[in-house]
Amino acid sequence: MSNRLIDLIGINKSFDNTMVLDDLNLYIRENEFLTLLGPSGCGKTTTLRIIGGFETPDSGKVLFNGEDITSLPPNKRQLNTVFQKYALFPHMNIAENIAFGLKIKNKSKSYIDDKIKYALKLVNLDGYEKRMPNQLSGGQQQRIAIARAIVNEPKLLLLDEPLGALDLKLRQDMQYELIRLKNELGITFIYVTHDQEEALTMSDTIVVMNQGYIQQIGTPESIYNEPENAFVADFIGDSNIIDSVMLHDKLVSFLGKKWDCVDTGFGENKPVDVVIRPEDVVLKEEGAGTLDGVVSHLIFKGVHYEMEVMAGGFEWLVHSTSMFPVGTKVSISVDPFNIQIMNKPESEDEEAVHIEE
Ligand SMILES: Nc1ncnc2c1ncn2[C@@H]1O[C@H](COP(=O)(O)OP(=O)(O)O)[C@@H](O)[C@H]1O
Ligand SMILES: [Mg+2]
Repeated sequence: MSNRLIDLIGINKSFDNTMVLDDLNLYIRENEFLTLLGPSGCGKTTTLRIIGGFETPDSGKVLFNGEDITSLPPNKRQLNTVFQKYALFPHMNIAENIAFGLKIKNKSKSYIDDKIKYALKLVNLDGYEKRMPNQLSGGQQQRIAIARAIVNEPKLLLLDEPLGALDLKLRQDMQYELIRLKNELGITFIYVTHDQEEALTMSDTIVVMNQGYIQQIGTPESIYNEPENAFVADFIGDSNIIDSVMLHDKLVSFLGKKWDCVDTGFGENKPVDVVIRPEDVVLKEEGAGTLDGVVSHLIFKGVHYEMEVMAGGFEWLVHSTSMFPVGTKVSISVDPFNIQIMNKPESEDEEAVHIEE
């Protein structure tokens, strides 16, 4: 990928003596769809507001194309922000809402009319010019808010949980819409969400945050398949996270058994966490796998069965297309490749590194 558009360098921010961002370092490339993902209160919105210019860091710098914009006000930055609440002007029709920013910039009427048409087409709302905001559904209003941001031709679009108020079906439609927009417009998106599925669906890059610290930066695939610590593994999906000891390269011990794995370089007899995804737990006949247990819970989920298996004193979460009734004696087997070894978190400020391509 290309140039860095935004650099956040050593950003610190406290509110009322509470540290919200602690030495945050991050960059965003041109044309990247980057998502800040983390639980409520971890500092996502604060990070976005600092990029947008609505908040000033206590220390650290924000660069735009290499230029220091830390003290530049929002309207002087080449970006637009879409917030969770669409906040259209209720007394203006859709065309007037979209035109608002362009009128301030004294653009000509024909330029503005063209832009409105173009933006409405992009968000699949052609012909809505004369409607009033209260005649539109929540999803439509949010699309107008996005159209309003796009007509300003920002280099960068900041989106803070813009789909948070929508119901599930609409949210999924809008996710596809946003991906399409990003591809058609070729602008950079910084997206904030606490919804891991949304992040996995839309992003080129995900930044997982917790308590003001970056936990991991990577592609959706790498975050899902190779979480760097138990927080990321737990946050990014259902997982079996098991207290373990790495005996030596390619052999790990947990729940009283030795398991082959593929990881090396952790040293010998080193305490680690093991992550095993529920879909990677294979249930076999009693005695045929590595660890015997009993099915304690079963739910049909549509595509697969979700089961809990008590084995080795641990309640395993298992997803399988085969059904094992509650009470069935089974044996757990895991492909060495699907046993993910993680260092125990030493502290919360473990540095995450943005992998260069
Ligand atoms: N203006 C503010 N004044 C005081 N505390 C704030 C302010 N903005 C955010 N905070 C606090 O900073 C922390 C991070 O908030 P925020 O960035 O909004 O998190 P997120 O968007 O990840 O939910 C929270 O504990 C929040 O209460
Ligand atoms: Mg927030």
